[in-house]
Amino acid sequence: MTVRTLLPETSIPGIVGHPWSAKADKIQSVTGILLGCFLLAHLHFESSILLGKEAFYQVVQILEGGMFSETGHGFPVVTKVFSVFILIVVMLHAAVALRRFPAQLGQWRALRRHMNGINHKDSHAWFWQLVTGFILFFLAPVHVFTMITNPEIGPHLSAERVYHANAWLLYALLLPAVVIHAMIGLYRVAVKWGLTANRRGLRKIIKVLIIYLIVIGSLSLLSYMIIGSDLALPVQPFVPE
Ligand code: HEM
Repeated sequence: MTVRTLLPETSIPGIVGHPWSAKADKIQSVTGILLGCFLLAHLHFESSILLGKEAFYQVVQILEGGMFSETGHGFPVVTKVFSVFILIVVMLHAAVALRRFPAQLGQWRALRRHMNGINHKDSHAWFWQLVTGFILFFLAPVHVFTMITNPEIGPHLSAERVYHANAWLLYALLLPAVVIHAMIGLYRVAVKWGLTANRRGLRKIIKVLIIYLIVIGSLSLLSYMIIGSDLALPVQPFVPE
């Protein structure tokens, strides 16, 4: 016979988590899912440049509410306001994620010992999420701030930013870091909240998605570079024929 004894919470200090911890966990998952889905949409919209200048121009006009203006031209203020919203979500996500970060050398050593000791794929995935999260802490706000202060987007204006203003350097670092971070994040959320028991299958999907997103992102970056190198300064916005 099994005897279960219920102890009052106050008698086992340190074992019972703080209620805020569970809330922070939920906030981290919800903001993470939001940002992961945003990234999937973002990289597809942005790589419409691979279909030509006209395609990217039309995508930007639709996203900036061109249907509500008489000229059919979108409103860059929409990008500005949406970018502020994304910045708030990024900050919230980073704030709750920080409590997971190993803060002392001893904690890093324990993590390394743990990873060397048990060759568990999910522990390795978590380690890479930690490293890429650290990189994003510095790079993501730079990009989002640029979109708030200079929200002009288009085949020529984006190419100008990427090529003439050297944003390619930022994007070349940001792209692999954010794709790896976001895709491992979505995998971990799905496992954590019990959405799937087939971890191996999901890991395969995530790996394919990581390679696919890095390939379309890199090709788009190359397109902006080629377009930018053909543009004379001062750059004129693209006008469809
Ligand atoms: C609402 C806010 C955002 C807007 C309006 C936006 C817009 C854009 C645009 C228009 C580009 C193309 C290049 C350019 O015009 O400079 C770009 C590139 C990029 N963005 Fe964003 N972005 C936003 C937020 C983010 C966030 C939060 C991330 C991830 C942390 C991100 C990751 C990237 C990456 C990696 C690239 C380069 C893609 C490539 O290599 O092809 N963006 N973004």
